[in-house]
Amino acid sequence: MKYTRADFPKDFLFGVATSAYQIEGHAQGGAGPTHWDSFAATPGNVVRAESGDLACDHLHRFEQDFDLIREAGFDCYRFSTSWARVLPEGRGPVNQAGLDYYDRLADALLERGIRPCATLYHWELPSALADLGGWRNRDIANWFADFTEIIMRRIGDRMYSVAPINEPWCVSWLSHFEGHHAPGLRDIRATARAMHHVLLAHGRAIQAMRGLGMSNLGAVFNLEWAEPADDTLEARAAADLYDGIYNRFFLGGVFNKAYPENVLHGLQAHLPDGWQDDFDTIGTPVDWCGLNYYTRKLIAPADTPWPSLQEVPGPLPKTQMGWEIEPGALTRFLTRTARDYTGDLPIYVTENGMASPERQQDDDRIDYLNQHLAAVQDALDQGVPVKGYFIWSLLDNYEWALGYEKRFGLVDVDFDTLERRPKASFRAMQTALAQGDPVSVPMAQPRGAMHDHWNLVADIGGTNTRLGVVTNGTLTDLRKSPTGTLPEFLAALHDLCAEIGTPPRAVVAAGAGPVRNGTIRLTNANLDLSEADIATATGADHTFVINDFTAAAWSVAEITGDDVQALQGDPTPPKGTRLVVGPGTGLGVGALLYSEGHYHTVSGEGGHVGLSPRTRDEVNVFEAARRIAPECFFGNSLTLEAEMFLSGTGLPILYRALGMTAGQPDTPALPAKDILQAARDGSDPVAMRAAQIFTTHLGAVMGDMAVTVMPTGGVFLVGGVAEKNRWLFGDDFLAAFNAGGRFDALRQAFGVYVSEQAEFGIVGANNFCKNALAR
Ligand code: FCB
Repeated sequence: MKYTRADFPKDFLFGVATSAYQIEGHAQGGAGPTHWDSFAATPGNVVRAESGDLACDHLHRFEQDFDLIREAGFDCYRFSTSWARVLPEGRGPVNQAGLDYYDRLADALLERGIRPCATLYHWELPSALADLGGWRNRDIANWFADFTEIIMRRIGDRMYSVAPINEPWCVSWLSHFEGHHAPGLRDIRATARAMHHVLLAHGRAIQAMRGLGMSNLGAVFNLEWAEPADDTLEARAAADLYDGIYNRFFLGGVFNKAYPENVLHGLQAHLPDGWQDDFDTIGTPVDWCGLNYYTRKLIAPADTPWPSLQEVPGPLPKTQMGWEIEPGALTRFLTRTARDYTGDLPIYVTENGMASPERQQDDDRIDYLNQHLAAVQDALDQGVPVKGYFIWSLLDNYEWALGYEKRFGLVDVDFDTLERRPKASFRAMQTALAQGDPVSVPMAQPRGAMHDHWNLVADIGGTNTRLGVVTNGTLTDLRKSPTGTLPEFLAALHDLCAEIGTPPRAVVAAGAGPVRNGTIRLTNANLDLSEADIATATGADHTFVINDFTAAAWSVAEITGDDVQALQGDPTPPKGTRLVVGPGTGLGVGALLYSEGHYHTVSGEGGHVGLSPRTRDEVNVFEAARRIAPECFFGNSLTLEAEMFLSGTGLPILYRALGMTAGQPDTPALPAKDILQAARDGSDPVAMRAAQIFTTHLGAVMGDMAVTVMPTGGVFLVGGVAEKNRWLFGDDFLAAFNAGGRFDALRQAFGVYVSEQAEFGIVGANNFCKNALAR
């Protein structure tokens, strides 16, 4: 080689690159089918219909391949993870063997002192997602973010750097407009959508990794210099459009949050609605930019519909691919990218190399590498922050539509025996890299930087709010603050996120009031809170507002025998549908329905079923209550809304009515707390009678509601009132619950429990959250 490590700045990184489908052997190890398998199996798409089924069998030979990387002295290895190897269906069940494989791969690199540089997607889309429209479907951004999180949770801590997607132009234009790569479409609408969605998916993946605490995240673009075929205005415009489509569309989206005008001219009509609103996600800041560079093209106008251009053969020397060798364009790309897009951000040449038929003495490759390293030197001289250079490729491999014919490797592979033999270029690089100071760049993510993602749960009361931090499913921090106005409440959410330093994955806010179209009307706090407001304040991907009794119902979803006092039935509540009743300010009733292994909630207004006198002497009491609160009675009957006696608001009315029937018309409306206290210590006969009516009617109503939902998982009393007044729930309560005419036995068969969980609103919001995210 003309250059050695010593000719480059201190800590300049040298690496080799590969990709999963091109080397691993996709038919092995439990990976799911991908669109490249079916594309290759369709005659006419790939030379000799070759596929990546076995490729270099890297899956079983990676240790030996990594020994070669170490032997050559490279600092980094750029590899890709196969989505379908980790998630055979693209979503849902994980192939454990796939995750284990990438885990061992990460360790094997670090053991050899090689920095792992991951690309999450290098083109083999799981077939199940291709069936749903693949890159044409906007949902792919979220599918991809989920995959990102699954794989990076496992190996992210050991990655030096990560980029989501290799070469957005190839994923979209080459594969959906030119049809040369899977899925082999030729459709401009599909193309426009793929171009936009691939960038959206990139942004979502970056956000997912930031959420895990990861750093050194980038984006990898392939660039092709467009040279006008002649000096005419038309040729210059055609070349400019080629440059727009190929290069500036993707760089512009990610770094400038804008697409080039000349490209929009032809594509805008085909872009998905609302594309302009996605730039904040697409442009999520990255830490570096990777450029893959191979060649330039001569471009002339063509008499076709938009983009009305064509490539024409150029005069420069060519590689085995037929690609012209033009190192000067690499310098121009490096300077232009820094100037127009990335400023001071580190730039890496993430791929550069050539295909050559020379299987041992590949002097042509050595020459190509020398010329392009000289081009990097020129850019460095002009002040471009180029930080590294990766050669494509370590091994001869599956060159996509060109099968195994085009050899890009520094190491020759015999595709019959799978034997590896280093070529002259490998030895030349080994010599070059041995000269100069060893690099002192870290090997992986900073220790302890990665964390599990967290969720924020809120229990919003009329006066106070509780904010819970949930890490890995468990409550790790609980804050109490005044609910305040809407801006104050949102500021409290925002400040908590700022303090933690990353946005939560999900926020669940529970409060008293009706929920409609993603907004809860918080009746006590008198404010309207929307899921969109919460998303803006916190940056969370998923936000939910739920009714407090939905939360209360969820609070018993994972309840154990330790968390309850059993009044009747099995000491450990069995799994099954559960009825939850909470006498508080009002009377809350929720049902947690169980079917096929999952819980669901229904929100009803069980607190407002009818309550009628149970005994003859109660008739007077109900009649008196009717004079106090006539609006709560059902027509002309003596039946009233249950909540009117069975709650903190109702108990004082019952107490007054009892006073009136006992000939004490000026009985005060004592607060519920005082009534219960007086009843408990036996100091006030009216209060004792009120407590008696309260408990028997509550028991009876709960028994009635139980018969309608069949809570084989138990009936639960939740909330402070029940917990603080356990003495209320004795024999009379149970007798009333169990009295069901010919259905006494049925009622007796239900377990009845007092929940002892503190913060049931927070517990419930957390259980709701886990369930919602799992769906
Ligand atoms: C790049 C691809 C890589 C390989 C080389 C030759 O565009 O990223 O997979 O095909 O070209």
